[in-house]
Amino acid sequence: MSYRVLITGVAGFIGSHVAEHCLSKGWKVVGVDDLSGGKTENIPKGVVFLNLDVCSQQQIELLFQGFDFDAVYHLAAYAAEGLSHFIRGYNYTNNLIGTTNIINECVKQGGRTGKLPHLVFTSSIAVYGHPEHLPVTEEMTPNPCDPYGIAKYACELDIKAANKMWGLPYTIFRPYNVYGERQNLSDPYRNVVGIFLRQAIQGQPLTIFGDGTQTRAFSHIDDVAPCIADAPIVAAMKDETFNVGGDTPFSVNVLACQIMDALDKGLVVERLPERNEVKFVYASPEKLRSVYVRPDPVLLSEGIGRMALWAKGQVIDEPKPFANIEIDWKLPPSWEKLRTGSQVRR
Ligand SMILES: NC(=O)c1ccc[n+]([C@@H]2O[C@H](COP(=O)([O-])OP(=O)(O)OC[C@H]3O[C@@H](n4cnc5c(N)ncnc54)[C@H](O)[C@@H]3O)[C@@H](O)[C@H]2O)c1
Repeated sequence: MSYRVLITGVAGFIGSHVAEHCLSKGWKVVGVDDLSGGKTENIPKGVVFLNLDVCSQQQIELLFQGFDFDAVYHLAAYAAEGLSHFIRGYNYTNNLIGTTNIINECVKQGGRTGKLPHLVFTSSIAVYGHPEHLPVTEEMTPNPCDPYGIAKYACELDIKAANKMWGLPYTIFRPYNVYGERQNLSDPYRNVVGIFLRQAIQGQPLTIFGDGTQTRAFSHIDDVAPCIADAPIVAAMKDETFNVGGDTPFSVNVLACQIMDALDKGLVVERLPERNEVKFVYASPEKLRSVYVRPDPVLLSEGIGRMALWAKGQVIDEPKPFANIEIDWKLPPSWEKLRTGSQVRR
């Protein structure tokens, strides 16, 4: 069956990989992105690309008037969880209002054509907040503890409300610490793997918040993108929520060593004051495994090796401070320095 799908955030990391998988099935892919975090060179050949902002209700309405979609993958967001405390207005506008615009147009398409698209949404493990036990599983009640996680959980609830009201079919994924080729290496606020790789390649010390014993189950993109792409055609994924990613937690200290090994360099670390973050978290991908057969997860050493090889061939832009910090009280000192310019490399 030939599908026409929409992917928001198509110039970003996960979106570009999902687009590749959709194209490989022979589907027609329309992709939108405002290029706030993504790059046009990430967009796979064959995607019909439109530079649009999902926060513009007018732009998204016009888009849906031009196409009927079988599936909509809504991935556009700014996923800087730690920074979201300091940019809460931007976070809720971009990540929550942008999502409601997409939900509205999916529902309106159903009313107009009689065919509701299957909405695939990338939420986040951030919805679990500080979990009472590990690994986190989908039946646990979310209790997000930062604006990013709160916005993602609000989107999940809103999608479920649209499902109850109009029957909007959906699949919600909660990815965590995804890394791999085409990830933004220049964002100073997010994706520890990308930050470490940039610092290591540029001969800087790796900056670690606190003692580095915080753990995450780093997940290679190849363990995440294929099942996101397949969601609309796997019956058991309809109207369900899944954790997606690796199942083995590693400390940030171990990650730092793996990255330096991959680049064949010695480890040099700069310790920064601990920041307000969830210390230990990893998720169980068992629910997803019960409905979707996947190959064994990519080993961390292998995945980091692949990403390092790619990263060495990239022109890495200078990290830029976020333009509009809304609250600077308790901003981590390293981010404050970035803002005032004293840490900008010359
Ligand atoms: N990478 C991870 O570890 C991770 C973990 C959990 C959830 N997620 C979620 O997965 C999705 C993709 O994340 P990613 O890591 O690929 O991030 P990314 O920054 O590489 O991609 C997001 C893309 O969305 C675009 N975008 C942002 N705001 C937009 C707007 N208003 N209009 C149009 N485009 C906009 C950006 O330009 C970017 O290309 C996000 O929803 C994120 O919250 C990612």
